[in-house]
Amino acid sequence: MQKGATVKTDWPCEFPGVNWLGKEEEKAVLDVVRKGSLFRYYGPEAPTHVAQLEGWARQYYGVEHALAVNSGTGALCTAMSALGIGPGCEVIVPAFLWVSTVTAIVQCNAIPVVCEIDDTFNLDAADLRRKITPRTKLIVVVHMAGAPCDMAAVMQVADEHRIPVLEDCAQCNGGSFRGCKVGTFGRVGIFSLQINKNATAGEGGLVVTGDDALYQRLVAAHDVGVPWEKNAPNETSDVQLWGQGRRMSELAGAVANVQLRRLPDIVAHMRASKQRIKDALGRLPGVSFRRLTDPDGDTGPFLILCLEDESRARAVLEVMKKDVRNVWCLREYGLHIYHNIGALVRKVPLSPAGNPWSLPQNAGSVREYGRGACPQSDALFARSILITIPSRLTRAQEKEMARAIRASIADATAPR
Ligand SMILES: Cc1ncc(COP(=O)(O)O)c(C=O)c1O
Repeated sequence: MQKGATVKTDWPCEFPGVNWLGKEEEKAVLDVVRKGSLFRYYGPEAPTHVAQLEGWARQYYGVEHALAVNSGTGALCTAMSALGIGPGCEVIVPAFLWVSTVTAIVQCNAIPVVCEIDDTFNLDAADLRRKITPRTKLIVVVHMAGAPCDMAAVMQVADEHRIPVLEDCAQCNGGSFRGCKVGTFGRVGIFSLQINKNATAGEGGLVVTGDDALYQRLVAAHDVGVPWEKNAPNETSDVQLWGQGRRMSELAGAVANVQLRRLPDIVAHMRASKQRIKDALGRLPGVSFRRLTDPDGDTGPFLILCLEDESRARAVLEVMKKDVRNVWCLREYGLHIYHNIGALVRKVPLSPAGNPWSLPQNAGSVREYGRGACPQSDALFARSILITIPSRLTRAQEKEMARAIRASIADATAPR
C-alpha cells in the first residue's frame, strides 16, 4: 500500500520466498562457509546442500531426475540444448511470458513462434494447433503469474503431433494441474529460484525430467559437456556435448534446499490469501477475474482483473496506483509481453553473421513480432490489470488490500 492507505511498516514485501527466510537458511549458509565446501561436486569436506536440494526436488515434484542450475534462464538454455534445439527448429511460446524463454530459443539459433493466450492468461490450445508446422520441434508452456496452464488441452495437441513440451514453471513453483505438479506433464520442466519467485535463493534454477537419457544430456549441457559421475566429469561417456557453465553453487543450494522445503507452506498461504481477497471483493460490476484452470493448483502471488475495455482499465489503474503497490496494466508489463521485447521485435542477431534470423535453415520460419502479431492476446493485455499479492499477509492486511482494490474500482468507474 502507498500513501492514503493504512501503510504498515511490517507490510510484507512483494518477494514471496523472502518473507519466509529464517534461521534454517542462515544455519545452512554458515555450514557451507565453515566447511569451506563452496562447490557442489567436491571440496575440503563432502558438499551436501545441492545434492539434498535435488533429492527433495525429486520427491516434491514426484520425478525421476532433478538438476540444480544457476538460474531459470540457465535452466531453459540447458534444457533446450539437451533437447537438441538448433537451426531449422521452430519453438512455440505464449504471448505472455518472460524474455528468458525467447532468449533460450534464440541462443540455440532456432526461431520463436508466438502463440495466443486465452482468458486463462496461458497458452491457447486452439491457436497452438494453428501455429504448428512440420518444423515445430518444441512447445514451451509458461505457467504465468502463478497459475497453471490447461495441460490436458496442451498435451493433447502436443501428443497428436508428437512434439515435446517444455514447461517453464518459473512463476508457478509449487503449482499443480488436476493434482499433478506443474513441470511433470511435459518432457522437461524448469523452475527459477530468483528473488521474485515462490521459493528463492536469490539466484538459482532447477530442471526436472522423467527421461533417463535426457537427464544425462542435461547434466552434460549444464556444465562441461559430459555428465558427472560421483565427483568427476566422465570424459569417456557416450554423451559428448558442449557445456554451458551453469552449475549451482553450494551457497545458493544451501538456501534453496531450505526454501524448497518451505514451498508447500508458502504456496498454501498465498493461495488462501488470494482466495480470501477475491471473496472479499465479491462481484464487481464490469470486472472479471482471470479464469483459473484449476483453482486448487494456483500458487497465488498475483491477481489479474479484466475490465470491459482499455479506457476503463486505464482509469482504474490510475486510481489504484495511488493506493496499491505493484500494479500494472499488462500491456506495459515490460519484458513479460512479447511485443515489449525490443530485440525480438527488431530481430536483433546473436552475431554479425545475422543468426538465427538469416540462417538458411531458418528461411521461411521467421515471423513478425510487433504488436498485432497476437491480436487476441493484445486485446486482453490492454484491458487487464495485474496486482501483486504479498506472500505473508495477515487477515487484516488482506481485508485492507481488498478494500483498496474495491475503492479504486468504484472511484474510477463512478459516474462523473
Ligand atoms: C517465466 C519465467 N521464465 C524464466 C525466468 C528466468 O529465471 P531467472 O531470472 O532465474 O533466470 C523467469 C524469471 O523472471 C520467468 O518469470
